[in-house]
Amino acid sequence: MKIIAAADHGGYNLKNVLVERLRKAGHEVTDIGTQSGDSTDYPDYAHKVATAVAAGTAERGLLVCGTGVGMAIAANRHKGVRAVNCSDTFTARYSRMHNDANVLTLGERVVGSGLAADIVDWWIATPYSKDESRHATRVAKIEL
Ligand code: RB5
Repeated sequence: MKIIAAADHGGYNLKNVLVERLRKAGHEVTDIGTQSGDSTDYPDYAHKVATAVAAGTAERGLLVCGTGVGMAIAANRHKGVRAVNCSDTFTARYSRMHNDANVLTLGERVVGSGLAADIVDWWIATPYSKDESRHATRVAKIEL
């Protein structure tokens, strides 16, 4: 799967761990930074990842900041982007099955690296339940 990943200074350690994990699993991951703990602005990264996902140059996006909240708010400003901030695997699974979420945001200050890895694994592996038409109807109604 083609995945684009990014983080601000609050999420770059976890982002690096997850990028390495996804690459080891065979995914094609484009890591657009950040690569240090120097202070950065999370919307700059969220907008780049959301633009790529909306354009279809990446199938999915992964964004990490301190909480995952700012990244989700910014990414969800983009038409066609359905970003979900997850701290548990149940939400990760159902955000794929029911909402066709195409961007996952995580908080490095919220979840440990083990739980984050499980969340990412479920989120990547779980398909959208597109054959259940009620979900397609609802997802279509999200766009204004
Ligand atoms: C940075 O301190 C922090 O505000 C940012 O990483 C993120 O949590 C914002 O939502």
